[in-house]
Amino acid sequence: MKNVIVTGGNGFIGSSLIKKLVANGVNVVAVDITFAGDRLPELEFITKIESGVDVSLAKKIPAGEYDAFYHLAWRGVNGADKADPTVQLANIQMAVDCVNISKQLNVKKYLCAGTVAENATFSLSNLEKTSGGMMYGVAKHACRLILEDYCKNIGQQFVWMQFSNIYGVGNKTGNLVSYTLGELMAGKEATFGPALQPYDFIYVDDLIEAVYRLSANDTNKAFYYIGSGSPRILKEYLLRIGELAGCADKVGVGIRPDDGIKYSMEMFDNSDLVATVGEYVSTDFDNGINKTIDWLKTL
Ligand SMILES: NC(=O)c1ccc[n+]([C@@H]2O[C@H](COP(=O)([O-])OP(=O)(O)OC[C@H]3O[C@@H](n4cnc5c(N)ncnc54)[C@H](O)[C@@H]3O)[C@@H](O)[C@H]2O)c1
Repeated sequence: MKNVIVTGGNGFIGSSLIKKLVANGVNVVAVDITFAGDRLPELEFITKIESGVDVSLAKKIPAGEYDAFYHLAWRGVNGADKADPTVQLANIQMAVDCVNISKQLNVKKYLCAGTVAENATFSLSNLEKTSGGMMYGVAKHACRLILEDYCKNIGQQFVWMQFSNIYGVGNKTGNLVSYTLGELMAGKEATFGPALQPYDFIYVDDLIEAVYRLSANDTNKAFYYIGSGSPRILKEYLLRIGELAGCADKVGVGIRPDDGIKYSMEMFDNSDLVATVGEYVSTDFDNGINKTIDWLKTL
């Protein structure tokens, strides 16, 4: 791989991926609506384009032969925008625009970020009430279907990378591990539903390894789940976080009502990915949580 494009290049995942690409000698065109916060170093390998993402972006990207287009930009990964259908629809449009740019620039492979929250949509019709995360999962699920059909129709190689729940150094997203450690390390109780569902977490460096290999290696499927390969019941994960943080008594499992969303072990099967890119997980849960705790202590 010589040249790639990464949208959302200043985000948590995008900036980590770009560092990995650059370490492997790959030139990166990094696109983001803002590069505030100095997440990305100034290096000759990185061309930063501070811009929103729409079809006009094609004209701003330097001419060249691109091996991959990673589309990671997404508004409302966290916070109130997650539940806003207008924001989420605009995200789908942005992902379609990036397919058109990839096709126009003859990019070999277009890879787009999905989420394990897509699986929540399979419980939707059984729920009387939903929370904000559902709209995000619905939009990602719809986006995957639209992109897969469109890419197959226009002949653009496409990979939907369905990310597990990600944790680790640099993650301040307020997702499950981030919330749990944030509360526990502030001496507060972290509260949850019954947490009896199967679940999965992946350490950020392992996710990035798989994401990198999905463009570096040949792929023959349009969908890969990127998880740890060792899912567990959520309650076990949460209690283990409490033990490692030295305050298992502050992990309040069963305090909140069940949200009714059902997950199954099969949803977390990464065997297709391992068969394609090899073993990519090198950080077990205890090690990853300990690294994350050490980092949080430095903030
Ligand atoms: N972080 C997680 O735990 C997680 C889990 C599953 C999937 N994902 C997916 O991975 C991708 C990256 O997530 P992240 O955690 O790095 O999120 P993030 O919010 O840290 O990064 C997203 C980046 O996209 C940029 N962006 C948003 N709208 C834009 C626009 N219109 N034009 C240009 N740039 C824009 C933002 O400025 C930001 O830098 C997203 O698609 C997200 O849905 C993340």
